[in-house]
Amino acid sequence: MSDRVEVLMVGPYPDRDMQAMEEAWHVHRFWDVADKPGFLATHGPAIRALATRGDLGADAALIGALPNLEVIVCFGVGTDGIDLAAARARGIRVTNTPDVLTGDVADLAIALVLGVMRALPQGDQHVRSGAWAKVPMPLVRRFYGKKLGIAGFGRIGQAVARRAAGFDTEIGYFSRSAKPERPERYFSSLVELARWSDILVVTLAGGGGTLNLIDREVLAALGPQGFFVNVARGSVVDEAALLEALETGGIAGAGLDVFRNEPAIDPRFARLGNVALQPHHASGTVETRAAMGQLVRDNLAAYFSGRPLLTPVA
Ligand code: 8YV
Repeated sequence: MSDRVEVLMVGPYPDRDMQAMEEAWHVHRFWDVADKPGFLATHGPAIRALATRGDLGADAALIGALPNLEVIVCFGVGTDGIDLAAARARGIRVTNTPDVLTGDVADLAIALVLGVMRALPQGDQHVRSGAWAKVPMPLVRRFYGKKLGIAGFGRIGQAVARRAAGFDTEIGYFSRSAKPERPERYFSSLVELARWSDILVVTLAGGGGTLNLIDREVLAALGPQGFFVNVARGSVVDEAALLEALETGGIAGAGLDVFRNEPAIDPRFARLGNVALQPHHASGTVETRAAMGQLVRDNLAAYFSGRPLLTPVA
């Protein structure tokens, strides 16, 4: 029997991080366990830490099955999938990985804006398929100089704004409150922001408070010439309304990194010609994932050596 702290991992981390986790802790790979209820009944009481990811979270049932759980570490900034109320009720600490991924998520937001407006997937396909020799590629849309709306103006939203400024855009944003220190234009209404915007980028946090905030009315306000980009969470969009808008020309196109029911997303997305799609990969660079893994381990090490957590959420 090992006397190392027992850590339950909900899903895998990159190989290098798995190795480092397994060197430091007694790791249980929950995703490999066939009989999960049986495993929890046998090993649940020994688990003191839960290691999850932003896209996987930890629900109340899992937290409830771990009676001696002390800390949840999340490989990701979004903790909307973690039942924070269940954790707080038992005094379980929670950490995430903010800041280290901000730049990469903002980079991918800009990449998706350009991807959908300049039709990069379609252009790539035009070259690969040989269509280029037969028909010209249809004209695409310009990004620079346009009006960019950013829904959610925290660290990631502001990083998108800094990058977009280099494209000579006018920038507006929607958030809970105005940020008077910022030069960008504040909109207290998401519909008004969408109406003003040529492109609407969503960087809102997920969770109950933002569920379906991008609805039919917002998409209608963005309109047939408008582009939509989401690097936040699938939950912030009414996906039926989005698919309908994309299929009927209600909006011009979308760049999407996040969806409902990832990775088993609605197959209608794959049939659209006016989208640029990514597999929830905004933070998926070698550099950022290494920094995220290190921060997860630093939080775990801090907790179990009695030092303050580096990036506590609860
Ligand atoms: C990651 C995320 O893709 O930070 C988040 O909240 O969803 C992403 O950075 C994910 O956590 C890693 O699997």
